[in-house]
Amino acid sequence: MAAPGVTVFVCVSCRDGEDADLRPGARLLEALRARLSERNLDIAVEPVDCLAVCKRPATVAFAGAGKWTYVIGDLDGGAHVDDLIDSAQNFAATDNGVVAWKDRPACFKKGVVSRVPPVS
Ligand code: FES
Repeated sequence: MAAPGVTVFVCVSCRDGEDADLRPGARLLEALRARLSERNLDIAVEPVDCLAVCKRPATVAFAGAGKWTYVIGDLDGGAHVDDLIDSAQNFAATDNGVVAWKDRPACFKKGVVSRVPPVS
């Protein structure tokens, strides 16, 4: 089986600053899985415990074989799910993971924390 065009790692450990019981990433993961179950897309989703961006929940990383990895924060499990899926599709469509600025929804443009080159 071929590797997915993108794996979206979602931190499920961050806590909301105002409500310590809320886990924004867990909510985002649930919303992503629900939305993706309705569509047949080349997107894998994996929960992770920490992406070291704990002050900017919810946080995800886009990764793919031979591609730059992007870490994105400040995501909302309700408002950003569709834009996040669009971003992941645009990432998957690239050869190297670098998504053109015009192909980045606002949450991708504003939320980028870092990018890391692929291992060559
Ligand atoms: S606990 Fe979520 S990035 Fe650290």
